[in-house]
Amino acid sequence: MDIREKVQTAAQLLSQADNIIAFTGSGISSESGIPTFRGKDGLWKQFKAQDLATPAAFSTNPKLVWEWYDWRRNIIADKQPNPGHKILAEWNDLFSSLYVITQNIDGLHQKAGSENIIELHGNIWKLRCTKEGTVTEDHSCPLKEIPPICKKCGALMRPHVVWFGESLDTKLLSEAVKMCSKADLMLAIGTSSLVYPAASIPMTAAESGVKVIEINPESTPLTPRADTSIRGKAGDVLPEISDILNNIIRQTKGREK
Ligand code: OAD
Repeated sequence: MDIREKVQTAAQLLSQADNIIAFTGSGISSESGIPTFRGKDGLWKQFKAQDLATPAAFSTNPKLVWEWYDWRRNIIADKQPNPGHKILAEWNDLFSSLYVITQNIDGLHQKAGSENIIELHGNIWKLRCTKEGTVTEDHSCPLKEIPPICKKCGALMRPHVVWFGESLDTKLLSEAVKMCSKADLMLAIGTSSLVYPAASIPMTAAESGVKVIEINPESTPLTPRADTSIRGKAGDVLPEISDILNNIIRQTKGREK
């Protein structure tokens, strides 16, 4: 099947689906100018995760870890949702339910207007008190103090993100699993499908009969399990699918009259 046929197939599958999950990774934000992790210019090509994104790194050198997150916050701050994020937000009202389950911490799905968002790996604009666990939102860029200190109790604040070696929030994970059990179609967009447990979500969905459409310029471990795998950029492919989907909906409505 060539790419046009795959896009057509994806639109057909979407037109028959009611409950949709968009499972996203850093690739969906790359066209907004935010680096991915494992690509050619990916963050893990330039930095060592164990020095910057682990509990051990934070307890050894919180200032260094915060300086890195402050640098990333500065990169993300002025970035805007691209057509990929925008199409997902446009689809809010098109289906009985649409959940965005994202590994991204950049907040661009919210900025685009998506409504039901599960952030599996946290959010870079949130800080968490290391003593009390209180989460606060702080968009200051650069941060006023590094490392930031909790205004209530004076303890160190940490980024409200998941680091290597940490578990995902069990409530969020079970909500994601619950939503997937109700879904009839999942779009897996811009993720290498290498990082677990997040990567198990589309894998499990595919195994339990949910139709899976992958959108990624490269193949991934999910590719052989997906019903359709479209080699392309999210910002190109999603608007193409949307155009065809809108035509299908118009034609169906025309026939119903
Ligand atoms: P990766 O960097 O591992 O993978 C990005 C994927 O996006 C690759 O498969 C690319 O081919 C694809 N891609 C690049 N540009 C794209 C585009 N324009 N449209 C669609 N796809 C595109 O990023 P993630 O899969 O998000 O975790 O990584 C998963 C987790 O690993 C992250 O959440 C992060 C990281 O370590 C934590 O920090 C806990």
